[in-house]
Amino acid sequence: SADAELYKDVRIAVIGGSGLYNLDNLHVLGEIRPKTPWGEPSDAIVISKTPDGHKIAFLARHGRGHYLNPSEVPARANIAALKHIGVEVILAFSAVGSLQQEIAPRDFVVPSQIIDRTKGVRESTFFDNGVTGHVGFADPFDSDLANLIITVAAAAAAQGQGLGGRGVKFHKDKTLICMEGPAFSTRAESKMYRSWGADVINMSVLPEAKLAREAEIAYQMVCMSTDYDCWKVEEEAVNVEAVIANLGANSDTAKRLLLALIPAVTAALHANELKNLAALKGANKWAVIT
Ligand code: ADE
Repeated sequence: SADAELYKDVRIAVIGGSGLYNLDNLHVLGEIRPKTPWGEPSDAIVISKTPDGHKIAFLARHGRGHYLNPSEVPARANIAALKHIGVEVILAFSAVGSLQQEIAPRDFVVPSQIIDRTKGVRESTFFDNGVTGHVGFADPFDSDLANLIITVAAAAAAQGQGLGGRGVKFHKDKTLICMEGPAFSTRAESKMYRSWGADVINMSVLPEAKLAREAEIAYQMVCMSTDYDCWKVEEEAVNVEAVIANLGANSDTAKRLLLALIPAVTAALHANELKNLAALKGANKWAVIT
């Protein structure tokens, strides 16, 4: 079909969070609206081409008009649709609040761990309706992708001005806490999360990361810091206005990062250098209990 021709050779998908609703620095080839047994994705999946000819898929997590709150995102349909078109790698972007002094607004964070503070209201597995499966999630992100992101960002910094011409700081190996929302945390919660060792907070990494693992897709989130949440007494507590002021700069950084990152991930895929992904493929047949 015309759709299949459009998404042929797509191996990488980008999921955009708040502020990142398109990749308008890439050449759009077309869009598709796959239907899945779990319903329709958040929005159309846009297929684009980088200047050096790499095709990728893009999906706006909240819809391009930001009409889905984090609890309403159809994560199963999103991951199933990306799996259907052959995606093997997901680079997921998300606005986050910072729970640590050294992570400033507009810094980027590549997390390695997650703490779940969602409240059980989100559909978070493909294993139901009689199929019981327990996948490994000890390391919820793909460290090969994390290393590539850090390497690409460091190379941009070494070349001079860094991503976005602002010398954006990247932090690695951090713990991301995912809360339910849509209201932000109380100060007592924010301080408790700090005492737990959490570094950044969002409302979106779950169940997306779990579903990607179940679907045997390599998944790494890139967190874009917008605020200090509400633990810092000398700062104004987080509000939407403050978040939005930093979203524009962050989405510019994300687009520049992807221009360098997509060729790097494509090369790693072609060279079979994504070892975690190789181990993940086919692994879930051992996760099903029969
Ligand atoms: N997304 C951006 N800032 C946030 C915060 N402070 N808490 C939860 N999610 C966020």
